[in-house]
Amino acid sequence: MCQSLIQGGCVHSLSQGRCVNSLIQGRFVMLYPIFLFNFISLILGQQQFQQQPQQQSQQQGQPGPALVDETTRWSRCRPTNQTIYDFQVENLNGTYQDLNSYRGQVLLIVNVATFCAYTQQYTDFNPILQQNSQYGMSILAFPCNQFYLQEPAENHEILNGLRYVRPGNGWIPHQNLDIFGKIDVNGDNQHPLYEFLKDSCPPTTNRIGKREELMYDSIKTTDITWNFEKFLIDRQGRPRFRFHPTNWVHGQSVMQFIRPLLNESGGQQQQQQGGSFYQPQMQGQGQQQGQGQFRRQS
Ligand SMILES: *[C@@H]1O[C@H](CO)[C@@H](O)[C@H](O)[C@H]1NC(C)=O
Ligand SMILES: *[C@@H]1O[C@H](CO)[C@@H](O)[C@H](O)[C@H]1NC(C)=O
Ligand SMILES: *[C@@H]1O[C@H](CO)[C@@H](O)[C@H](O)[C@H]1NC(C)=O
Repeated sequence: MCQSLIQGGCVHSLSQGRCVNSLIQGRFVMLYPIFLFNFISLILGQQQFQQQPQQQSQQQGQPGPALVDETTRWSRCRPTNQTIYDFQVENLNGTYQDLNSYRGQVLLIVNVATFCAYTQQYTDFNPILQQNSQYGMSILAFPCNQFYLQEPAENHEILNGLRYVRPGNGWIPHQNLDIFGKIDVNGDNQHPLYEFLKDSCPPTTNRIGKREELMYDSIKTTDITWNFEKFLIDRQGRPRFRFHPTNWVHGQSVMQFIRPLLNESGGQQQQQQGGSFYQPQMQGQGQQQGQGQFRRQS
């Protein structure tokens, strides 16, 4: 049991003290072989460390993809006749909501976790929305516990976790940042919204992750790779682009894709929420973002 707690990522730091106590009070003698084993592993690990210092230190850092910026990791979604407006999601308070209520807006859909190294991306969400919500943009965040158990809270605890722990310092979401109830984004109980998104948008990497860090079955090639993967939805509810968690740069890289979509028409519904059209103030970003095909790091 302690072993499984220790493997549980964030749970790790909370429970480790308790585990160690129970180890000391309990069957120290029985656990002696485990200590011996760990000691041997330590020595072996040390040797490995000397052979591949860089890789080893990265692996010891944290689970999931390394904290780097990889702006080439994105894909273009295939045309589809379905839209995200066909789906319903649960709010944090247990009521349900039709995504239909976001008609006409540009949406960034992101699976989040409070106790992830990438949780720092939360602090970029509010500034982006302060600049762009007036043009009809929202961010929809779906907490998910499937990546190394980094979202262990109950739905009613999640906002407090964000406010007081990570990002902390009294953080509260912008009014256009909607945080929903926890869902599965991968595996046998995946939410239908995510099934649709993953079917429409090719994966941005061929490396999903390490088996022991992925808390679900079955693992598929189209899976969400980690917390803070993103889908960009246009004003007509169609998925347009998918972004790897590392493709962010404080939102700058994804904003290059969002700006042209803010300028697009939302069809008949555009008056509803679209508001005034977006006037690009920035440099003329090239529209030719490559072929949008499956790309990967060399
Ligand atoms: C969308 O609907 C049209 C007309 O019904 C059909 O011809 C087309 O194949 C459909 N496209 C997809 C991607 O399903
Ligand atoms: C539940 O949350 C939703 C979304 O924040 C809100 O619109 C709704 O009024 C809430 N319902 C209750 C009963 O608190
Ligand atoms: C955005 O729309 C305005 C008004 O229709 C147009 O003048 C401008 O060229 C558009 N910009 C982009 C990047 O599409």
